[in-house]
Amino acid sequence: MSLYSIGDLHLHFQTELKARAQGKDRAWRDHEQKLRKHCAELICPEDTLVLVGDHSWGRNLAECEQDLQFIMELPGRKILLRGNHDMFWDAGKTEALNRQFAGKLCFLQDNYYPYGELALVGTKGHCFEGPFYLNRRGQIVGWDEEREAGSRRLVERETARLRKSFEAAKADGFKRYIMFLHYPPTSILEDESPFTAMAAEYGAEQVIYAHSHGEARFHDSILGEKHGIRYRLVSGDYLKWRPEKIV
Ligand SMILES: [Fe+2]
Ligand SMILES: [Fe+2]
Repeated sequence: MSLYSIGDLHLHFQTELKARAQGKDRAWRDHEQKLRKHCAELICPEDTLVLVGDHSWGRNLAECEQDLQFIMELPGRKILLRGNHDMFWDAGKTEALNRQFAGKLCFLQDNYYPYGELALVGTKGHCFEGPFYLNRRGQIVGWDEEREAGSRRLVERETARLRKSFEAAKADGFKRYIMFLHYPPTSILEDESPFTAMAAEYGAEQVIYAHSHGEARFHDSILGEKHGIRYRLVSGDYLKWRPEKIV
């Protein structure tokens, strides 16, 4: 039994390709086929695959049908986390999605999923992404403060959701956690954040995140071991469409 993770599939079987970079970048060429092949090689039916958000470009459930079908056909138990592009998934309607896709897909939001002794917890998360103001040498000398204030409110809302997920697992007796976020745990201005603090508070063993795609963004947040917690970026193009073995 193994646990795998990958994010940012940005499937578009029914919708026009919206990200121009995705269309031009070699890393994205036939990415669905690459992912399907790697999953078939790596993942057994008893394994779990956590998909950490930005599943589809579809704007609603009807426009995501074929994308979700593609995910359903991947091997193993599939657990999905919300990304900033997942318009089909209103956080408040997660229970309805879990009923609709029962036995096929699991939607992680305000709940948790067991994996042996571990609880898989998570939420979309958030981090401030600018705009930043740079000097001639490319150093950050300021940023849009209004946007940063808005960003802080989103971080608060998301940390409350994350706590709900941890508490649900804790109430059921879990003591070991793997924490999933769609957004990186820290912005490019931060070394720590309310998300890294919560990972430490509950003693999460690993923090898995995505959202940073395109080579220039691969090092936007924490990678590797920090204060005893292992941080991993699993965006699809970073992993070259090969799901990362987490446990
Ligand atoms: Fe993305
Ligand atoms: Fe994203």
